[in-house]
Amino acid sequence: MERAVILVGTETGTAEDIADELSEAFSEAGIEAEIHDMEDVEVDVIDPSKALIICTATHGDGELPDNSTEFYEAIEDEGSDLSGVSFAVLVLGDSAYADFCEAGKIWSGFLTGLGATEVVGRYEIDGYPEDDDVEGAREWATEAADKFAELVREG
Ligand SMILES: Cc1cc2nc3c(=O)[nH]c(=O)nc-3n(C[C@H](O)[C@H](O)[C@H](O)COP(=O)(O)O)c2cc1C
Repeated sequence: MERAVILVGTETGTAEDIADELSEAFSEAGIEAEIHDMEDVEVDVIDPSKALIICTATHGDGELPDNSTEFYEAIEDEGSDLSGVSFAVLVLGDSAYADFCEAGKIWSGFLTGLGATEVVGRYEIDGYPEDDDVEGAREWATEAADKFAELVREG
């Protein structure tokens, strides 16, 4: 898997900045990543030949950001079969809220339920990302890239 699609769920742009960091880390690991706002994509952006990365904030009371709901509902409406799709989720949240990082849990459960495989545990960022959060996110992306590469080797 030499290509990845990073889909961003955001309301105030923080997840976009983290998506840029992930893209750089993937690039260093030999995977070229394209970044899209979830508002700008159709269901067919999910392609089994590309690693899928969900990079999302949590908003409302443990909900998806506004820019993501139409995309989520479109996948739901199509009843897509996502077997063969490999994905990983990075989620931003704030532990001051009761439903901490719930948007990540929503995506993990949703995509897994449609047959996709989550290759690495979710990465959670609590509050505005500090340097160590960004560093951790990049290390997580490198680990995810290794898993995606392993899947390709296994065929
Ligand atoms: C109105 C509002 C509601 C939020 N609700 C939650 C929540 O339910 N759970 C959570 O973990 N974080 C919550 N957050 C925290 C955001 O996920 C966090 O600030 C994130 O970094 C924002 O990312 P964004 O700039 O990409 O939108 C909320 C933030 C705001 C402003």
